[in-house]
Amino acid sequence: MQRLIPVLNNDHVPLHLISVINTLLTAAKEISHRLHQGSLAGTLGSTLDENIQGETQKKLDVVSNQLIKNMLLETNLVHAVASEEEDDVVMGNPDAKYLVAYDPLDGSSNIDINGSVGTIFSILEKPDHCAEGKELFLQTGDEQIAAGYILYGPSSLLVMTTGQGVRVFTLDHTVGEFLLTVDKLNIPADTQEFAVNMSNQRHWTKPMQQYIQDLLSGELGPRKKNFNMRWNAAMVSDVHRVLSRGGIFTYPADCKHPEKPCKLRLLYEANPMSFLVEQAGGRASTGYERIMSLQPTEIHQRVSVIMGSRNEVDTCLDYFKSIP
Ligand code: AHG
Ligand code: MN
Ligand code: MN
Ligand code: MN
Repeated sequence: MQRLIPVLNNDHVPLHLISVINTLLTAAKEISHRLHQGSLAGTLGSTLDENIQGETQKKLDVVSNQLIKNMLLETNLVHAVASEEEDDVVMGNPDAKYLVAYDPLDGSSNIDINGSVGTIFSILEKPDHCAEGKELFLQTGDEQIAAGYILYGPSSLLVMTTGQGVRVFTLDHTVGEFLLTVDKLNIPADTQEFAVNMSNQRHWTKPMQQYIQDLLSGELGPRKKNFNMRWNAAMVSDVHRVLSRGGIFTYPADCKHPEKPCKLRLLYEANPMSFLVEQAGGRASTGYERIMSLQPTEIHQRVSVIMGSRNEVDTCLDYFKSIP
């Protein structure tokens, strides 16, 4: 089995970028260890603090965020980081060129029930034009030079892309190395599996309500398929299933909280996951626009997400085209 560094070297990934990715993995190994220690590590449960998202921070949200931020900034290779758990951008080496947006722990609500969680990262380069602070990160998803996640499940997996397809590496705990286990992931174009939080159904917009209603009726289009549903409440885990065996994952806009019509964040959830899904032959849309074409205006902005098997996503998008 090939180790990460020779594989990325072979892919002509610049050495400094390999070093940034390797630093993320060092932090990930520490996070993986604490997760697998469970309550023995003393880092389960919530803090008394709320993050800028309005969420009560889990202890591991904070610990993971600190680990990743400190390790990345220590490399001197990172110009700035943006994190779900940081109100603002944190500046690093002014002469460095890499920008890292990350969700230190995705699916936090699963931590205390021993469910799957993950770390999501998106790597950009400092823009050519003069930019400071959060403006550095206001780049479309197409500008990403690398993206991926570490899924802390029964095994710890790194799933990543540098724009040359999607590779999967499995953490070999005996030697502490991520070894290449899937050379190129491809999402099947069709599926009979959907992932959505059905409890929000009455709050969705009409197109999504009609699509899911038709999907559940078994009468969807000429294919008349019976669908199965999965919902892990952790985007990393739900999208990993879609990448592994196909499916359609959606967290659509809803009117449950009018001030926050969307749940998922563009910079460190939707964009990196869209990069992976498109590199694996899938589709990723807001319902009206391709996610990676969106021009961000805020580092924590939220977006409606529909992604996965391209033929099924296209069927769903037809509803957004035809229903006002
Ligand atoms: P995070 O734990 O980083 O805040 O993200 C949680 C997100 C995403 O992982 C998941 O798909 C979604 O929240 C689940 O939302 P529900 O709790 O509404 O199911
Ligand atoms: Mn959160
Ligand atoms: Mn998340
Ligand atoms: Mn998170």
